[in-house]
Amino acid sequence: SAAVKGGFDSFMDKEIHDQPKAVADTLLGRTDEKGALVLDELRIPETVLRSIDKIIVIACGTAAYSGHVAKYAIEHWCRIPVEVELAHEFRYRDPILTPRTLVVAISQSGETMDTLMAVRHAREQGAYVLAIVNTHGSTIPRESDAVLYTHAGPEVAVASTKAFLAQITACYLLGLYLAQLRGTKFPDELRETLRELQELPPKIQQVLDGEGYVREVAQAMKDEPSFLFLGRHVGYPVALEGALKLKEIAYIHAEGFAAGELKHGPIALIEEGQPVFVVVPSPRGRDQLHSKIVSNIQEVRARGARTLVIAEEGDEAVVPYADIIFRVPQTATLMSPLVAVVPLQIFASELAKAKGLDVDQPRNLAKSVTVE
Ligand code: AGP
Repeated sequence: SAAVKGGFDSFMDKEIHDQPKAVADTLLGRTDEKGALVLDELRIPETVLRSIDKIIVIACGTAAYSGHVAKYAIEHWCRIPVEVELAHEFRYRDPILTPRTLVVAISQSGETMDTLMAVRHAREQGAYVLAIVNTHGSTIPRESDAVLYTHAGPEVAVASTKAFLAQITACYLLGLYLAQLRGTKFPDELRETLRELQELPPKIQQVLDGEGYVREVAQAMKDEPSFLFLGRHVGYPVALEGALKLKEIAYIHAEGFAAGELKHGPIALIEEGQPVFVVVPSPRGRDQLHSKIVSNIQEVRARGARTLVIAEEGDEAVVPYADIIFRVPQTATLMSPLVAVVPLQIFASELAKAKGLDVDQPRNLAKSVTVE
């Protein structure tokens, strides 16, 4: 009923709007009065956390994309190599695990069988397993060495939204905690990064406040047969997630690519009128990410693509090459996925509704996949 959906058309819409709170709640109570991170709940001895030499993130679907985002941040902050692998692939190869490997299992439901089997396998091989899970009392945290809960609240819609943002937030807390413990960042840098994280909920709200335009564009594109999504760095997993959302609930062929990979094949797909989403990083970053992606937009545009660009407020460089611009507030590069993914979620939801589909219960899918 409309009441449990908080007045929204679907649980998915409600959960998209829960996102500022999901991030804020996941951050809540995890710092002391001096602003230092306290993750006592981890229950992994500090000696172990100091000695780990590799992190392997295992998860499926959207949860795996959150791990993919986290890899960029954790490697940057902690200088620990991070691998991200789909749980079902990890389970059936011969991964190298030692007591110095920290395996991080990410799951909204805590019941995904592929992820659970991978957790069991990792523990049998002597690795430490930390679960990042949303559902209290579920199986994955029970079978792990430790758990860091995301506090997104119950997620009902099959398409994961607020759990994704909460998973990235929890992974970032873990990364900052490891950096604090291992001294790989100065305390003032840590505080600054934590502050950037804490400033996100109102920025996410700002994106939600501008949803009307995203909805209009989605309705107008409801008969498109295919969409491509491009991103670089942390924008790459955001592109993958945007494509997954469209496949799942709107049954539209969609594919995400690393923008740099275009010229190695996918650019052949571009023909007149092909819609292409591009997730653009901050022009204020000290790297060349921004100018590289602006050339990617030009390249697809020159071949006839219609470009839908997610760009920061004030980024004027994209204007000449964008058919449509969805603006997001300015953030540090590593924080950008938490705002950039929101228009993509709204777009998928609105497009599915425009096609008359059941957004919360897409065909062939279950909320949690409890079979291997
Ligand atoms: C996301 O929209 C999907 N429905 C799906 O990919 C999901 O994220 C995946 O099955 C993992 O579920 P979990 O987080 O409950 O383990």
